[in-house]
Amino acid sequence: KAGSPGIIATYPERIPIPEGAKIVTLGEGNTPLLHAGHLSGVTGCEVYLKVEGANPTGSFKDRGMTVAITHALASGLQAVVCASTGNTSASASAYAARAGLVSAVLVPQGKIALGKMAQAVLHGARILQVDGNFDDCLELARKTAADYPVTLVNSVNPVRLIGQKTAAWEICDVLGRAPDIHCLPVGNAGNITAYWAGYAEYAADGMVEATPRMFGFQAAGAAPLVHGEPVPAPETVATAIRVGSPASWDPAVRARNASGGIFEAVTDQDILAAYRLLAAREGVFVEPASATSVAGLLATAADGRVPPGSTVVCTVTGHGLKDPGTALEGNVEVEPLAVDPRAVASALELS
Ligand code: F0G
Repeated sequence: KAGSPGIIATYPERIPIPEGAKIVTLGEGNTPLLHAGHLSGVTGCEVYLKVEGANPTGSFKDRGMTVAITHALASGLQAVVCASTGNTSASASAYAARAGLVSAVLVPQGKIALGKMAQAVLHGARILQVDGNFDDCLELARKTAADYPVTLVNSVNPVRLIGQKTAAWEICDVLGRAPDIHCLPVGNAGNITAYWAGYAEYAADGMVEATPRMFGFQAAGAAPLVHGEPVPAPETVATAIRVGSPASWDPAVRARNASGGIFEAVTDQDILAAYRLLAAREGVFVEPASATSVAGLLATAADGRVPPGSTVVCTVTGHGLKDPGTALEGNVEVEPLAVDPRAVASALELS
């Protein structure tokens, strides 16, 4: 839609906001649902990518943040706080800046991608680096919000997940049905919870006939839902999902069970292979965590758990420019080549 008005204006009857509230939006949502030709060929399915890097701050977090910051502004409190592996902090600081609110972000020291840090800096967030992981940051953010007059805008704030349901509605609106299978990367487990709630709501209202099976994929070194117990020291190249104790554990398990879905782990090696394949074969540059959904699809299609002919949507959650470091760290097969300006054609081996 031209001049996308943002998700609250697009789904006003489904997203309650306080009476008379000023809507804080950056025009999030309405992201591309791209048919993925290469992945469809490899899997024998109709595969689509929901490209969430196309949101204003480069990740799906904006869908929840427009709702959370709209509520925070209406509440009269002056400040918001969040814990983050990078994308929530980028989104919170942008929407807070737009609303004229102070933002404070708690991030794990040395474990957030460069682009995400750049965003928080430029949006004027108070950046607090914690010598610990995301789970430690979330505990501190919860304590801060309990003790001081600030709004916690992590996905434990229920209005965040209402906003994130809109991605499922957009997919149904475009396809005219729900997919058979929906693949997602899972970290703190808010997004898979929100998608399932969105699909279930649409089905209950008769907007679609059926709901998809939810396939949640975690990095092998940070896979608490796969193992069924928290991981004390999570580790993965996909820093966005480096989470050991997901806040939305129970609702995510219910989503898996109610949908006939699965939780599975994929190795960092497979995540990076899918990351390169998406860029090289589909033209879609995502951050490593986002490729986890595609790595998982490839693995489960290869071992027969994805019936051929299925309609599959993989959400790719964040933009590749978030993490330029990983893109250049030994993951390029073609090194930049110094060239004599008179010899470009011969360097390209064009005759
Ligand atoms: N993909 C990306 C790019 C993310 O940033 C996140 C979460 C996820 C997937 C997983 O989503 O947590 O709802 O299961 N990032 C959070 C953050 C933890 O702080 O930005 P989830």
